[in-house]
Amino acid sequence: MGGPGRDPGLRVSPRADRIPRPGALRETSAVARLLHVFIHHEIQAAELCGWAILAFPETPLEFREGLFSIMLDEVRHAAVYSARVEALGASYGQHAVRDWFWERTLACESPLQYVALMGLGFEGGNLEHAHRFDRLLRDAGDTVSADLVARVGREEVAHVHFAARWFTEWSGSAPESGPDFERWAAELPAPLTPAVLRGRPLDRVRRGKAGLSEAFLDRLEGSGTTSSPSDR
Ligand SMILES: [Fe+2]
Ligand SMILES: [Fe+2]
Repeated sequence: MGGPGRDPGLRVSPRADRIPRPGALRETSAVARLLHVFIHHEIQAAELCGWAILAFPETPLEFREGLFSIMLDEVRHAAVYSARVEALGASYGQHAVRDWFWERTLACESPLQYVALMGLGFEGGNLEHAHRFDRLLRDAGDTVSADLVARVGREEVAHVHFAARWFTEWSGSAPESGPDFERWAAELPAPLTPAVLRGRPLDRVRRGKAGLSEAFLDRLEGSGTTSSPSDR
């Protein structure tokens, strides 16, 4: 199965997204540019739920129904970011986008790898990124955008929880302790490693609510830093 269909007017770049510097976020145009990146993250998250429903038809119906419901959340997230970008005088498609989640996720060969990468990896890391950008936007004086990022971040906890539940079941991890760290790291498609799938400081509270154990979080926190393939 190939990559996503794209509007011919949308410029897709192989380069990493340009995230504005924190000091630049006092400029409306820089906030719009940041949220433009987030819109495309949400669109890819929605698309990849759809991709996984089609790629893994042998999975339980409950899993695919869960993906469908998450897909609708991601569409809604893209829509609220898009509305905010328009309120800031810009629009989706104005900047080039990168299909980084697609590039990595197409390497997943099993539903176990998919929940390891998408739910526990990208969406898990987003729990930390949401805090960071909430704070940066608030410090820059844009409380409306900060509140939006915070709200979306809170809603992602359930998505990570969904992935943790299915990862535990399919990997044979002990139900009472949730995903096993070693097993999770082993299921990530190369070259991704745990260290590029978390932010600092680790959001232990939200990750705990999402079903990750203290032992898992200790290992994640201690995992070595490597150079990230993206500048996220
Ligand atoms: Fe989302
Ligand atoms: Fe999500």
